[in-house]
Parts: sequence; C-alpha cells; structure tokens
Amino acid sequence: MGSHEPLRGAVLGLGMMGRHHARILQSNPAMRFAGAVDPGGDRFRAVGEAARVFATVDALLAAPDGPPDFAVVAVPTEEHLTAVRALAGAGVHVLVEKPLAATAEDARSLIDVVRAAGVHGAVGHVERCNPALRALRAKLGELGDIFLVATERVGPFPDRVRDVGVVKDLATHDLDLVRWLGAAPIQRLAAETQHRMKRDHEDLVLVTGRLENERAFNCMVDWLTPTKVRRTRVLGEGGMLVADTLRADLSFYKNADVPTQGWPAMQALRGVAEGDMVRFALERHEPLAVELEEFCALLRGEDGAAVVTLEEGLETVAVAEAVLVSAAAGETVALAAGSPSS
Ligand SMILES: NC(=O)c1ccc[n+]([C@@H]2O[C@H](COP(=O)([O-])OP(=O)(O)OC[C@H]3O[C@@H](n4cnc5c(N)ncnc54)[C@H](O)[C@@H]3O)[C@@H](O)[C@H]2O)c1
Repeated sequence: MGSHEPLRGAVLGLGMMGRHHARILQSNPAMRFAGAVDPGGDRFRAVGEAARVFATVDALLAAPDGPPDFAVVAVPTEEHLTAVRALAGAGVHVLVEKPLAATAEDARSLIDVVRAAGVHGAVGHVERCNPALRALRAKLGELGDIFLVATERVGPFPDRVRDVGVVKDLATHDLDLVRWLGAAPIQRLAAETQHRMKRDHEDLVLVTGRLENERAFNCMVDWLTPTKVRRTRVLGEGGMLVADTLRADLSFYKNADVPTQGWPAMQALRGVAEGDMVRFALERHEPLAVELEEFCALLRGEDGAAVVTLEEGLETVAVAEAVLVSAAAGETVALAAGSPSS
C-alpha cells in the first residue's frame, strides 16, 4: 500500500446506509471504489458501473483487480459478524457500521476474528464526525465544570429495521456520545421502554444514568415522534452547549452574571442566569466522508486518526444490553468496565 495511493474500498450491503458509502467511495478523490456486494442487487442504483456489483463476498474477492484494501460492512446488524469473518479472513480491513453487532457476545467474537486476522477494524459511529458535535467537544472547556450530557433522538419509524429495536439501532448513537462527550464510562443507568408498534422489539427508550466521573446523562430516543429531532446538550457551570446534528448547528447559551434588577416578573420568566447566546459559524463536511477519510488515515498509519475502536463499539453494545436489562427488570443497573454487572 503506497502511502499516497488512494485506498481501494468496497461496500457490503447496498441498503439505506451502504448506498451512501458507495456514493462517497465513487466520488472522493482520496479513495477508489473496488465494488459492492448485495445479494439483492443495487436497489438504489448507487453504483455507476454494474460490473462492480457482486452477489457474494467471494465474487468480490475474486474480481480481476484483486481484493479491496478495506470494506465497509453495512449489512443488517445481525449479519455483521459473518460478514467480518469473510472479509478479515481474506486480509481485508473492516469499517463496521454501528452498532458493532447485535449482541455483546457477537461483538466480542468479531473483535477476536479481526485480531486473529491481523487487520484493522473500526466502528461507524458517524455522529462523532458530525461538525456540530466535533465543535461542541472542542469547546467543552468553555463550560467549566460539566454536570450533564443529554441527548434527544426522536422521529418516525424508518420501516427497514427488522433485526433489532430502537435501543440497539438508534440509542447506540447516544450511548456512545454520552461517554465520548462526558469523558468517562457509564457507571450506572435506569431505563424505561415502550412497545407501541407491537413489534418484537421496543420502539421508545428513556435512559438516565451517571458516568464514572459523576456527570449525569439522559437519553430520549424513539421511533414514534412525527418529526425528527437530533439534539445533544452539555450543561456546565458556565452555561450550555447545544448541537443540532440534523442541521449541523452548534449554539452556546452562556450563564449571565447580570441580574434582572427591579423587574421581578421578567426575572421569573427568563430565569436568573440567562446570558448571551452565540450560534457558531462552522465548516460543514459530510460526516460519512469524514468517517471514511479517518479510517483511511488509520490504514495509512497516520497519527491521530479519529476512529471509533472496536472495543468502544463493544462497550456501546454492552451498555445497550444493560439498558434492556434495566427496562425489563425495572431496576437500576450498575456497569463494571463497560459490562452489565447486575
Ligand atoms: N451510522 C448510521 O447512522 C446508520 C444509519 C442507518 C443504518 N446503519 C447501520 O447500517 C447497517 C445496515 O442498515 P441499513 O439501514 O442500510 O439496512 P438496509 O436493510 O436498508 O440494507 C441492508 C442491505 O444489506 C443487504 N444484505 C443482506 N445480507 C447481506 C450480505 N450477507 N452481504 C451483502 N449484503 C447483504 C440487503 O440486501 C440490504 O440491501 C445496520 O447495521 C445499521 O445499524 C447505520
């Protein structure tokens, strides 16, 4: 692999997510598109050259220009482990869509497979590449002592997810973000779920808990709300940073030390500590392209490649399982080193 040669990437699964990876691999000059695998073919016409769509991984690996350097695994979550086995066994590096696997047990096996094959692996927790969240994290110092990370990720049901519920499909974004922004593992949590659509899996979850550094967190996630909201807030002694990841906007609501003197009605209405508000002008890059670029930087051995490690992906799946345990038992669950301990 020459250090400046574009890496050849493939995509497994040309569904809702895989088609976007395929688009970027075909258009980003820093990468080359090696092909895509989907037994259902190219439903979304995501691939320009029909000969680059294969029905099996074996056919991709046997293509005349050789196996790809890396592949994005964007098949349904329950099939991640099988897909990674086939790719890593052939020496192909893997960027696995989030969540890493449908169970913590599968996630552990997946890590073993990748390590045994000696290839690189990372997880596609793409929210970490959202410009608003990256900027929020870089500005955390402005908040002083931080005491809450709260996320809201609600919207209508995308009628495609069959294998997992909203906790593993959607809340895994939030369970990753609260640890990444709060800068510590989760110590304990309590969750409530709802099954309003009468499917096998839950469609709403509320999670409240605390990180090992004593910061509180809260996540509200569902497939039942008739409008889409993607909001992350961090509260500290200096005020609140709010990221809207749908619009890639970041705002800072400062606590004021200017009192509203002599106007008690206004003071009651506006609160005592409402100060200036700033909405930052951000450079906006497509998060998925940034994620692929960071993964290529990892493969090139560049310092500081910001990828989400497989171990972090496992921890997120283990926390998601703790959420389901808590909701089923109606109890607070303590976590030890990322694994449910009760
Ligand atoms: N990062 C994100 O924000 C995000 C968003 C959506 C989905 N995802 C993840 O992406 C993955 C795929 O989700 P989706 O919404 O695109 O699902 P989808 O059902 O739209 O697409 C999955 C595709 O995989 C194909 N497929 C099934 N088995 C295969 C195999 N063995 N080899 C190759 N292709 C196979 C199917 O034919 C289908 O076209 C899931 O893990 C999901 O959690 C991540």
